[in-house]
Order: sequence, then structure tokens, then C-alpha cells
Amino acid sequence: MAKTYSIAIDGPAGAGKSTIAKALAKELGYHYVDTGAIYRTVAYFLDLLGISPKDVDGVERYIDELTVEITYDETGKQHMIMNGMDVSDEIRTQDISQKASLVSAHKVVRDVLLDMQRDVAKKHNVIMDGRDIGTVVLPNATVKIFLTASAEVRAQRRTAELLEKGQKAEYNQILKEIQQRDYQDTHRPIAPLKQASDAVLLDTSEMDIPTVLENMKRIIGEKIAL
Ligand code: DC
Repeated sequence: MAKTYSIAIDGPAGAGKSTIAKALAKELGYHYVDTGAIYRTVAYFLDLLGISPKDVDGVERYIDELTVEITYDETGKQHMIMNGMDVSDEIRTQDISQKASLVSAHKVVRDVLLDMQRDVAKKHNVIMDGRDIGTVVLPNATVKIFLTASAEVRAQRRTAELLEKGQKAEYNQILKEIQQRDYQDTHRPIAPLKQASDAVLLDTSEMDIPTVLENMKRIIGEKIAL
């Protein structure tokens, strides 16, 4: 099999990983893999069954009844298929964000999803974003970037994004949720959110999107001919 390149982008919720990764994937002709969407699909599945995301026994009992597929439409957009059903929109709520963070702490869930993520990277050049891509999923990724921003800036961006979509958004509430998710994602014992020792740190608190893209391309260009 031909050698594939992989770009791992990790960082906390709302750091702009998906916006940036999507734009870069389009430009480089890489597959964009949003791994958070996979955890969200698991959380949504358990939620429909009425299983609490903290219920270890419930999660272990039902996880085998779930099949998750990642597909891409003609525009390159990633779709999440849960037992044959496209749930790409349903998984995007604040409630599922919190539940995905809790569900992702279970070893059984992380084990099931690990091979799936690695398989995609074996077959395609990928830009994969998540929390543990550079540390656990693709420890030999060609490029590793840890993308972050202050919790306040991330909350401001998320608030503006929701308001733009015509949805309700309250800055203080969003900041609280982001801080809670940061805490959960960094403090879990298995594959916590952490910068890989060989990842390049990019703090985007003071940057607009074109500036972030410019910096990302500079970092990637040091390892891959663009
Ligand atoms: O990136 P996101 O906000 O869609 O991710 C939702 C949750 O999934 C996040 O709070 C933690 C979990 N997650 C994870 O544990 N590991 C990943 N690689 C991606 C997401």
C-alpha cells in the first residue's frame, strides 16, 4: 500500500479545529475526519436508549448493538451513520456535546473506536481532529498540531456562531459548558486531552481564521511538500 500522510489536530472544544481542518483538507485534497462526531454518535445512540452516559454497565451492555459508519457526500462533508441512519444533524446539540464528553471516558467506547479511526488513516491521507489523535490514535502522524485558545475566546466564538445560525446562545452558560468539558476531557484517565510531546502548539486566541490557516500551512509545510 502507498504511504499515506496524516495530520493530527488536537485541542479543546471550540478551538476552531473543525473549521480549520475542513478548509485545509479541501486545499490539500486530504480526507477530513472529525473524530468528535464518532463519540457524539455513540452518545446519541445511548441517549435514545435512555442509558446514562455515566452508566458503565449500560454502556458496556449496549455498545455492541451499535454500528457506526463514516461516509462522505459529493461536497466532501462527513456524515455519521448510526445503525443505517444518518444522524449528522442530530448529534450537534449542546446536550449531546456534554454526553459525548462523558461517554468518551469509557475504555470500552475508546477501544471500539480506535481501530475504526486508524483504518481510515491507513487508506487515505487524512487530517484528523480530536483530543487524542497525536497521543494515541496516530502516534506516528506526519504532522501534529495542538490548536487552542482561551476558554473566554472559545465561548465568544461559539456564542457568535450559534446566534448567527438563529439559535439561542448565552455567553456565560456556554463558557460554563466549555470549562466543564475541558475539565472532563483533560482529567479522564484514558487518552485524556493532552498536547503530544512532539506536537506544535498554536494558540489562536488573538488570530482570525486566515491567520490561523497561514500558520497551519507553515507548520505543515515543514514536514510535507505543499
Ligand atoms: O470535538 P467534539 O466537540 O465534537 O467532541 C465531543 C466530545 O468527544 C469531546 O468533548 C470529547 C470526545 N472526544 C474524545 O474523547 N476524543 C476525540 N478524539 C474526539 C472527541
